[in-house]
Amino acid sequence: MGYIKWLGHAAFEILLDEKLIFVDPWITNPKSPIKMDDINKADIVVVTHEHGDHLGEGIEIAKKFDATFVAVFEIAEKARQQGVKNAVGTNIGGPVEIGNLLMYFVPAFHTGNPTGVVIKGKEKTIYHAGDTGVFGDMALIREIYAPEIVMLPIGGHFTMGPVEAAKAVELLKPEIAIPMHYGTFPVLTGDPYEFKKLVEEKGLDTKVIILKPGEKLDF
Ligand code: NI
Ligand code: MN
Repeated sequence: MGYIKWLGHAAFEILLDEKLIFVDPWITNPKSPIKMDDINKADIVVVTHEHGDHLGEGIEIAKKFDATFVAVFEIAEKARQQGVKNAVGTNIGGPVEIGNLLMYFVPAFHTGNPTGVVIKGKEKTIYHAGDTGVFGDMALIREIYAPEIVMLPIGGHFTMGPVEAAKAVELLKPEIAIPMHYGTFPVLTGDPYEFKKLVEEKGLDTKVIILKPGEKLDF
């Protein structure tokens, strides 16, 4: 039994194959349901790119709990220089073994050494798209990894909005899509209910699950 808990913005706490993973842990984001002191364990920290709203408190969490910090090479080096002991530098390509999990860093169209990440465990395969626009090769992510659960930015302005994210769902064909990266600031206007409606209008099997910050999806 695992879960995906939304911590606001692009931050998620994921329990997968008994590993506690923080993805893009900007714990001090305006919508965060928790404070740094509420975290008392972390096995793995994954950061999709170096923008502050994604790197967040990732280095601090990795140091505090001796967690494995995983990101592209340049970001991992920065973390190592700042005292993270277990920093794993990766890049876009094939599998990265982190304990019993496999991670695949995939493209994202953005700035700041951008990636998305597919995390594959025995229980589930999960794709966190990071910050990105929609791109046709999301069909390859579907073809190769077939993630059952995807987290997609829908806020617009810096990333996909609802229309583009609905297209991403069409390409990825997941069982479940969770919208993220909206509502944090006034400029991130993308509406999760519009996203849900657009996905439903496409007649796809995907279920859109809109989490409130602090809510979790059990799997
Ligand atoms: Ni960004
Ligand atoms: Mn962002």
